[in-house]
Amino acid sequence: MSDKGIEISNEELLEIEKELKSLEEREKKPTTVAKSRIEKDITRISTGVPELDKALEGGVPKGSWVAITGEPGTGKSILCMHFAWAGLRVGDPVVYVTTEAEFRDVIRQAKLFGMDFEQYKIYDISSTKELGEIPNIVVIDIFGLLKVARQMSEAIPTDVETARKRRFAALDVQTLTAAIQEAYKILGVLKEGIKSPVRHVRLIIDSMSAFWADKPAMARKYSYDLKIAAHRDNVTTYLVSQYAMTTKSTFGFGLEHIADGVFYLWMDDVESTKEVARYMIIKKMRMTNHARTAFRVEILPGKGFVLESLK
Ligand SMILES: Nc1ncnc2c1ncn2[C@@H]1O[C@H](COP(=O)(O)OP(=O)(O)OP(=O)(O)O)[C@@H](O)[C@H]1O
Ligand SMILES: [Mg+2]
Repeated sequence: MSDKGIEISNEELLEIEKELKSLEEREKKPTTVAKSRIEKDITRISTGVPELDKALEGGVPKGSWVAITGEPGTGKSILCMHFAWAGLRVGDPVVYVTTEAEFRDVIRQAKLFGMDFEQYKIYDISSTKELGEIPNIVVIDIFGLLKVARQMSEAIPTDVETARKRRFAALDVQTLTAAIQEAYKILGVLKEGIKSPVRHVRLIIDSMSAFWADKPAMARKYSYDLKIAAHRDNVTTYLVSQYAMTTKSTFGFGLEHIADGVFYLWMDDVESTKEVARYMIIKKMRMTNHARTAFRVEILPGKGFVLESLK
């Protein structure tokens, strides 16, 4: 991100809106094709949760940006683990960004639900080890982001003060996009002259809130920046953002607007119900006649995220 300030100017916002409109126009193009043909052409990507796939006509459309928003402890991170696991099972390369924990903790948590990530070849971007064979999953945690920020500060000639700032700009959208590009390279899915990976990739960012934690007003601009830099036809993305109970608005309000789909998770007020009762609703999903009523969410040992119909 540029160091020039934390306010978005109107001109900047207009410019971003224009870029995004042209992106949306491009997406809308196949309107002349018969509906049945379009439906058939939509490749569905499994979420790894059977009831959720069913509620989505088979899964999320390939290339979608799915925002997962919700309160703490509602199952957002576990939902991400299922999505990554489903990818590994079908041979999709996975890029897993975690700002919340070290990946070791993700592995430990997933194992409790029967997902053994260690069966696959994992490469941590912060590692100094030789790459060896192509991994199945590239992990980017805060240490990986720090490493990329450092590399960027060394690569771009600048004055000492800017270089120092850049060096520590780990939680910065520019660093994030550079790290994702690096992960694509490691996965061997980039071809010269082609912007989109040559194979379908699953990208998970848990969570985006960390990138605007100290400046929530920037959520929308950062989301736009990321979409413009990282949105590709061949990449299906999960982006987590936390829900601020105090203000009743998500830290990712920008994210919900630019996302193709939104999964919203919440729980009953524990003070009145005296139990943890979790729910999830599919608020939107492009190109999908999705379920429009909420589900009860259970998180079960050995199984993980399970959806139950409320009716
Ligand atoms: N082995 C397990 N068996 C049953 N439930 C579990 C198990 N492990 C974790 N959980 C439940 O899952 C919850 C955590 O879910 P998760 O980490 O996905 O939440 P989150 O929405 O990502 O929260 P945050 O916003 O704090 O990151 C725990 O609070 C617990 O209730
Ligand atoms: Mg989490």
